[in-house]
Amino acid sequence: MQQLSDIQSAPEELQDYYEQLRAQHVTPAWLGGGISLEPQSQAVPYVWHWRDLRPQAMRAAELVGTQQAERRVLRLTNPNLPGIASNTLVANIQIVMPGEIARAHRHSGAALRLIIEGQGGYTVVNGERVPMAPGDLVLTPNWSWHDHVNDTDAPMIWLDGLDTPLVRMLEAGFYEEYHQERQELAPLVNASEWHYPMSEMRAALERAREESAELVRKNQQEVAAAKAELIAAAKKQSDELLAAARKTISEEKRQALAELRAQAVDIAIEAAGRLVQMNMDDGKQKQLVEEYLSQLPKETRV
Ligand SMILES: [Fe+2]
Repeated sequence: MQQLSDIQSAPEELQDYYEQLRAQHVTPAWLGGGISLEPQSQAVPYVWHWRDLRPQAMRAAELVGTQQAERRVLRLTNPNLPGIASNTLVANIQIVMPGEIARAHRHSGAALRLIIEGQGGYTVVNGERVPMAPGDLVLTPNWSWHDHVNDTDAPMIWLDGLDTPLVRMLEAGFYEEYHQERQELAPLVNASEWHYPMSEMRAALERAREESAELVRKNQQEVAAAKAELIAAAKKQSDELLAAARKTISEEKRQALAELRAQAVDIAIEAAGRLVQMNMDDGKQKQLVEEYLSQLPKETRV
């Protein structure tokens, strides 16, 4: 019969064996490490506040030019990771000042940009001019040429997100500079596939909100109708139950009243008996009982 083997080895012998393996660049897999029962991440939660970041971005714009810095970016660094926000993403605050450009280049990492501040300016993606306004999402897919231009009189600031940590982990990170500082601009298109303008997104959100409100209204109407239907059904059922109950009560009541009547008759007879003692004849006695009974409530007349 096959079973798990139980081999007991002397610690010294094992250590000696492990030393030999180490010298041969071999690792025994049973010595821990590798897969865990639960997911484990080195990244920790952290919040960067805009009130802290913006002044530092403006300070960077004072201290460093875009000639010196390929990109003037401040990396949001997870406290537990080396210069990256998460194990797979970097998040940067990038600033381009009025009249500045950030030169054209491309790289194997893909980037998305969420525009925070600015009154225009643009990114050029593969020759296509993509305007940037607060709230816009601008994409520069991997290996697409891109440069940034601020032709306004106010700072342009945005959040960059890149998948460079993941790309580097796959040892697929590389980069190329464009043969000139800026790309030639292709004819302007207003519906770039790299651009998700906030103005359009806001309109889409408004439409979604209205559609959602309409759905809620419709749902409320359906609920109200269903409620009314339920109430009507319950009322009908209740009426039927009440009618049946009345019948039952009426039956019981009839019996109770019949008993009362019997008692009343007894009392009347007793009263008549007393009248007999007062020399009243049988005929008058009977008539008196009948008169008495006729005065009793109708329900007691069975
Ligand atoms: Fe870039």
